[in-house]
Amino acid sequence: PESGCLSIIVLGASGDLAKKKTFPALFNLYRQGFLQSNEVHIFGYARTRITDDELRDRIRGHLLHGKGASSENSEDVSKFLQLIKYVAGSYDAEEGFRLLDKEISEHEVSKNSKEGSSRRLFYLALPPSVYPSVCQMIKTCCMNKSDLGGWTRIVVEKPFGKDLDSAEELSTHIGELFDEPQIYRIDHYLGKELVQNLLVLRFANRFFLPLWNRDNIDNIQIVFREDFGTEGRGGYFDEYGIIRDIIQNHLLQVLCLVAMEKPVSLKPEHIRDEKVKVLQSVLPIDAEEVVLGQYEGYIDDPTVPDNSNTPTFATVILRIHNERWEGVPFILKAGKALNSRKAEIRVQFKDVPGDIFKCKKQGRNEFVIRLQPSEAMYMKLTVKKPGLDMSTIQSELDLSYGQRYQEVTIPEAYERLILDTIRGDQQHFVRRDELKAAWEIFTPLLHRIDDGEMKPLPYKSGSRGPVEADSLLEKAGYVQTHGY
Ligand code: BG6
Repeated sequence: PESGCLSIIVLGASGDLAKKKTFPALFNLYRQGFLQSNEVHIFGYARTRITDDELRDRIRGHLLHGKGASSENSEDVSKFLQLIKYVAGSYDAEEGFRLLDKEISEHEVSKNSKEGSSRRLFYLALPPSVYPSVCQMIKTCCMNKSDLGGWTRIVVEKPFGKDLDSAEELSTHIGELFDEPQIYRIDHYLGKELVQNLLVLRFANRFFLPLWNRDNIDNIQIVFREDFGTEGRGGYFDEYGIIRDIIQNHLLQVLCLVAMEKPVSLKPEHIRDEKVKVLQSVLPIDAEEVVLGQYEGYIDDPTVPDNSNTPTFATVILRIHNERWEGVPFILKAGKALNSRKAEIRVQFKDVPGDIFKCKKQGRNEFVIRLQPSEAMYMKLTVKKPGLDMSTIQSELDLSYGQRYQEVTIPEAYERLILDTIRGDQQHFVRRDELKAAWEIFTPLLHRIDDGEMKPLPYKSGSRGPVEADSLLEKAGYVQTHGY
């Protein structure tokens, strides 16, 4: 592992993302010994004029109540908070960034290590509108200058652009300032335990290898549901909608890992090469295979315009034009204010040919990977009903992580991904060409929605979403199974 001083700079330090995700993830890394006090310093940067202690007070509560936290942590919390310093400044003027650079350099001089190098990690927990200026400022004022080596890296959050053109413009701008190995485009779904498990599952198990194709699989669903609405984020959400917020990034990334070919090796570039190929094989979306919805009450949010056409629910069918997947619908579904909170992948197999048990009505074999809550994988299969009867029932082979791996606390996605950025591992980050291919798939549909050519159907808060989505699913070949 690299040694030397590490400065982690959280830009947008007083915002929601930083408080709820970035700082708690850093704290968990600290608690587990991945961030050593004698090497690390954390800087918060934002426009608000507050003191170091005021920032610490804002963060403290989130650390004490985060995942894996307990009252025993309070001493750790205090020590961790002491590592944080705050610098106030604007996002588009050099003055603040010069001050930030001075603070970082002073820290480097004090901690360094004549022998060590300096590492600077800039985490942009910011609205995308300021990315261009912030990246420019970092480049002008804050790059690592140590002769002893080290690096400067930046982490950017989605939304990365609003459509193909705006994303490309942003990519070009950032690409002129930083090299691709310095840019970490974060998609936190790639940090989830069961998403990271997908490649292992597919390529380390003989069970799946011969079955994972159009000959055996009828359809695949990738589903995201939330049982709450936009909750104070209406202003942001209305500009983006569910497709940009969830489907074009989180669900599409999952699709890549479910559908891609075996990479040459586990090297990040090999994996990402295969993901890009899948994305490039996706056919243009057919508007007939899309259902949009908006929950009733969405426009009551004062930050949402009364005539908003923004979907809070969407089911979109993608079709992959290649030898493995021709004819298999990939049904991506995401919705806010639904009846449950769940993210899962459902792989539904075809009917058994020449069925002698007449068990077709009970349902098909289905392999379900539940990403959250309560990580699990289960296979729905037909077995003989135990007892004297020679009839069949649907049952499950079930691997629930909570039961099987009781001693393990599953890390938060952000924790894992931040550690990767420090280690320089880009495997779980989105490469520029991947991002472009992802926008190519969705941009025509998004433009039609933005232009009001396609309208969301109303659905009740707390429901399953518009019934039309269920009909689309059935039309695509999905068969509802019973017994689970
Ligand atoms: C974010 C979206 O990227 O993911 C939010 O902007 C959404 O709208 C969140 O609530 C869901 O993340 P998770 O990890 O809770 O599924």
